[in-house]
Amino acid sequence: MPYPSAAELLAWYDRSARTLSWRGQTDPYRIWLSEVMLQQTTVVTVAPRYARFLARFPDVQALAAADWSELAEEWAGLGYYARARNLHAAAKAIAAGGFPADSAGWRALPGIGPYTAAAVGAIALGEPVVPLDGNVERVVSRLFAIETPLPGAKAELGRLAQGFDAQPAMRARPGDFAQALFDLGATICTPRNPACTICPWRPDCRAAALGIQASLPRKAPKAARKPLHGVHFALTDAAGRLLLARRPEKGLLGGMLGLPGTPWRDAPWAEEEALAHAPLPGLAWQLRPGVALHGFTHRDLSMRVMAARVQRLPEGAEGATPEEAAGRLPTAMRKLLELL
Ligand code: ADE
Repeated sequence: MPYPSAAELLAWYDRSARTLSWRGQTDPYRIWLSEVMLQQTTVVTVAPRYARFLARFPDVQALAAADWSELAEEWAGLGYYARARNLHAAAKAIAAGGFPADSAGWRALPGIGPYTAAAVGAIALGEPVVPLDGNVERVVSRLFAIETPLPGAKAELGRLAQGFDAQPAMRARPGDFAQALFDLGATICTPRNPACTICPWRPDCRAAALGIQASLPRKAPKAARKPLHGVHFALTDAAGRLLLARRPEKGLLGGMLGLPGTPWRDAPWAEEEALAHAPLPGLAWQLRPGVALHGFTHRDLSMRVMAARVQRLPEGAEGATPEEAAGRLPTAMRKLLELL
């Protein structure tokens, strides 16, 4: 069977492309930022946050000059904070040495993986490379009826996706070709009920010919995430303000704001043991009912909350009402507020 036609996909894209605010320009900073945000976060969530981020950090110099705490706060609620750490590290490298000229140069920057390098290469630099994200993996596994499960199939899917670069239509518009694949995966070649009847590649799709499209890509079962336990302290003053504390720089949610608490560890905490980490000893700390659960990439965190009241928060401490705090805290920490 011949390769599906890049020209046909691009013709579909010209009719059906989604209007997204990071499109229609090739500023490498803006393209890079959009691709980093979009890696683990949906288009709908990203759109307003992308605009807000650019208003605060309009170019790579502004981002490089920012403190981590400012960036961490701007990233609050988007999750996968390692992305923001890497963004910051790479921004500093770019502010010092300039933007890389090709995807190999991007790949050499701290924290930039093959996906981001290829996406920026294709969209901002017009390089004929195909970024492999979940959408592209799904589309390609179906087009070629690849039944090997992911993640083992990744290299093969990458080679097949890159194979479109043999077609002049793809080489003429690599950025549009990549984004056409994203859009096809997001709107037609969807995970559960692909809309094959309106797919421009329907006649070329081997999985559809076999009737197995909805079962692809196959996925190897994931290993269970190990549990992690913590206890956090909700100290409220007479005005209803909560004591906030910045987390240690290293580790999960490093440098982010949160409620003060114990370290997070494998074993659950006994109440007495947790109290040794309370911000003010000797208060009548009350364990609140319920548990807040948060899944990180490799760990399942479960947190309990102990609450106490004081007239005033300690001098110089950072405080916020629960409403203010909600906008500034990472999602894991916001879940604690629901236990109060
Ligand atoms: N997902 C990842 N990158 C994207 C892009 N540029 N457009 C739409 N969805 C995407």
